[in-house]
Amino acid sequence: GASRPRLTFLGTGYLGATYAICYAELGYEVLGFDPDVDKIEKLSGGEVPFHEPGLDELLRKNVASGRLRFSTSYQETADFGDVHFICVGTPQRANGLGAELGYVETCVTNLAQHLTRKALIVGKSTVPVGTAEWVEQLVGKNAKPELGIEVAWSPEFLQEGFAVDDVMRPNRIVVATKTDWANSLLHAAHKGVFDLAAVEDREVPVVNTDFATAELVKHAANAFLATKISFVNAMAEVCEAAGGDVTALSRALGHDPRIGNRFLQAGLGFGGACLPKDIRAFQARAQEIGAGEALRFLHEVELINLRRRQRVLNLAADLLSRRYGPAGPDLSGARVAVLGATFKPNTDDVRDAPALAVAGMLARAGADVHVYDPQGIENAKRALPDVTYAKSMVDAVTDAELVCVLTEWAEFRNADPVVLGDVVAAKNVIDGRNCLDVPTWKSAGWTIRALGRPTV
Ligand code: UDX
Repeated sequence: GASRPRLTFLGTGYLGATYAICYAELGYEVLGFDPDVDKIEKLSGGEVPFHEPGLDELLRKNVASGRLRFSTSYQETADFGDVHFICVGTPQRANGLGAELGYVETCVTNLAQHLTRKALIVGKSTVPVGTAEWVEQLVGKNAKPELGIEVAWSPEFLQEGFAVDDVMRPNRIVVATKTDWANSLLHAAHKGVFDLAAVEDREVPVVNTDFATAELVKHAANAFLATKISFVNAMAEVCEAAGGDVTALSRALGHDPRIGNRFLQAGLGFGGACLPKDIRAFQARAQEIGAGEALRFLHEVELINLRRRQRVLNLAADLLSRRYGPAGPDLSGARVAVLGATFKPNTDDVRDAPALAVAGMLARAGADVHVYDPQGIENAKRALPDVTYAKSMVDAVTDAELVCVLTEWAEFRNADPVVLGDVVAAKNVIDGRNCLDVPTWKSAGWTIRALGRPTV
């Protein structure tokens, strides 16, 4: 019944797998669907196909208890669920403009065709505004009309590395439904989250709204976060010109509660599977619906973000006293250690990773690049095969003339500059994430350059 609806999550990528596992942990009967046999076998066997703290344990526990199962069958999925969450990917289109909705279309069409009783289909994937109405039409065309299948929308906001907490303890839930039936069923599908919050003496605010707004919230949130990061990185550029220190500037800004100190860390900028793709998709969709002008600033946000990468290259050339050729700095033959490949710490994800982009740029400028990352090497090798991958931080920096710290892993933040200083060829370091303690490195004899900070 509606008090404990059975849930399915279609698409067991990052989003769907995390939700399926966490909602089983919250006490629901859950089925995760994916057409990919390999993924489903792994998950059924208790193996999470990506790195996310805490998730493996919850997967094994809930598979063992029988509350959580996985399937490659649309029929089994349709039969199982009262509420079906669409969690498939919406990658960037090959032409770079907007989001590719092919996976959403396939998944919704097949699910709708296999349904045999009334159910609610809820969109969670990040989509361009207007998609929910289109999904509703798809369902109308493919499901038996007498079943009265309904569609709702409820975007998610999970961050890699914090995904379990973000799902079980969200800072808000956004729901768009068209009927009271859908609204109370979706509320029942979230009840586990509200119950947990009550036990922990928290509240989870709910924003009820329409389809278009629910879709826009996700793109707006990511656009805001990207803008906040690019804002502080723009200030870093100004600090570089003026001789100011962006880390102190950022701290000072962050003490104003109207501004807030989070997402105000200046450095190499944002990457990952969401922010870069979403702000591009948001601009493309705004253009289509005649609101392109309103989001023109997001283009600038992207440009600021990309300029940080070039800045690292220029700092490298300066530190190594290299000349600039027609295509930029010439680093031929210089041995450079790159510490960090993932787009942020505590993940193995290298999608749109600024660190890996810079590693590629250094290699194209002629440098002999040795990359080390605590978790991301396997993925990095596939994304950027033409550099050397080291087995440890010390291996990477051995004989280097320059060390670039490009992802702020604890292992790098806490590295001993005396120990590293003994194995390098020259003590030059670029702090691409403002994560190193400058006085400690300087007193160990290093020449250090950081983004947005004066040359000292
Ligand atoms: C992001 C959103 O935070 C999340 O709400 C949404 O659902 C998906 O996209 P995620 O991609 O996991 O999550 O990464 P996030 O922690 O937001 O970091 C994004 C990028 O911004 C990283 O490359 C990070 O290094 C960079 N960043 C973040 C900064 O450069 N400075 C900051 O102050 C914060």
